Amino acid sequence: MKPNKIYKGNCIEKLKEIESDTVDLVYFDPPFFTQKKHSLVTRNEGKKYEFSDNWESLEDYLTLIESCLIECKRVLKSTGSVFLHCDKIASHYIRVTLDKVFGMKNFRSEIIWSYKRWSNSKKGLLNSHQNIYFYSKTKDFKFNQYYTDYAPTTNIDQILQDREKTSNGKSVYKTDKNGNVVLGKAKKGVPLSDIWQIPYLNPKAKERVGYPTQKPVLLLKQIIKIVTDEQDLVIDPFCGSGTTCVAAKSMNRNFIGIDISDDAVKLADKRLEEMIITDSALLNKGLDSYLEKSDYEIALLNSINAIAVQRNIGIDGFLKNHLNNKPVPVKIQSKHETLDDAIEKLEKACKRKKYNLKIVIQTKKEENSNRLFSLNSDVQIIKSEKLKIEELKEKIILSQKS
Ligand SMILES: C[S@@+](CC[C@H](N)C(=O)[O-])C[C@H]1O[C@@H](n2cnc3c(N)ncnc32)[C@H](O)[C@@H]1O
Repeated sequence: MKPNKIYKGNCIEKLKEIESDTVDLVYFDPPFFTQKKHSLVTRNEGKKYEFSDNWESLEDYLTLIESCLIECKRVLKSTGSVFLHCDKIASHYIRVTLDKVFGMKNFRSEIIWSYKRWSNSKKGLLNSHQNIYFYSKTKDFKFNQYYTDYAPTTNIDQILQDREKTSNGKSVYKTDKNGNVVLGKAKKGVPLSDIWQIPYLNPKAKERVGYPTQKPVLLLKQIIKIVTDEQDLVIDPFCGSGTTCVAAKSMNRNFIGIDISDDAVKLADKRLEEMIITDSALLNKGLDSYLEKSDYEIALLNSINAIAVQRNIGIDGFLKNHLNNKPVPVKIQSKHETLDDAIEKLEKACKRKKYNLKIVIQTKKEENSNRLFSLNSDVQIIKSEKLKIEELKEKIILSQKS
């Protein structure tokens, strides 16, 4: 079978056409045993893509997974690995099946792909992860180690000091004969962990092609980079819209995609020609980059039992409790704003929203407003504790003078 192509057909049959011991990585994201049909209509062309995830029985489903795994194991090189993507519905059965085919000793990791989701009203815990099982064919698997930054809570100063064991086995900081601390070698960071926070494709992401359950290319790139090198062969026997193949091509790996659906094959072919990959600003800048409120602003909002709103010019927060079934927006007067400016920004952000109450927290003494006419606004002003204390001090100083 030629690489760098998408093939249509049942993956079990198609995998049989691949020579044994030739593949470096198999990733597959089969239907999850949801017992429903998945369908989605594309935003632009209004085309409907769907695939069935209805099964006679769990045994039926697991037979397909096991048959696929047997073929995957055969085609993998002795240094190769398989990554099987599933979720809480059947993950426990899938892990047992993987143990059966690849052997418990070849289990490497359970990767938790974690992402933020909007809450829904279902009873119970909000599900916000999926599972990816990583097994290797043998113990001599290819693995490229990657490192990530230390957690913000890590005391790097301590990590950069060498340690040694005392005669009674206690670990202590090493010192030289003059009692000076022995500084350790430069550290690479923390090895990549098995919990991956990679954003789910948002509905407007350019990368989204409208295929149900489409996975982000960034997720596949992370898998591909840790167990393959350039020119290696990556296979996805349930390739859907071709995410794995797009990721592999963008990283100079060879690939083979297989899917039973004609529509999926055509879509994957089209994606491989256009190659649109959404960069995640969230990942590039760090998860905290979206949090632009200062500790002072957060403290101010906490003091009135409000939650912060990030990246909104006119609203800094909302009270946790509604007033007469409507949210209550709050704006904090910033250092460079007059009170009128703050009120105007809040009013603008609240346009066409009939709130019962809007609050501005005044944080500084009002200078003379440079407005020619006063604002017509029903915004309520409350003073920050800091401002109240400043005004109190001024009052006392004035009274002492007189
Ligand atoms: C969960 S989707 C894969 C989505 C894909 N990872 C993506 O990012 O677009 C599962 C795919 O498996 C395909 N499929 C189901 N049974 C199959 C089989 N026996 N052989 C090959 N493909 C199959 C479906 O058509 C569907 O496209």
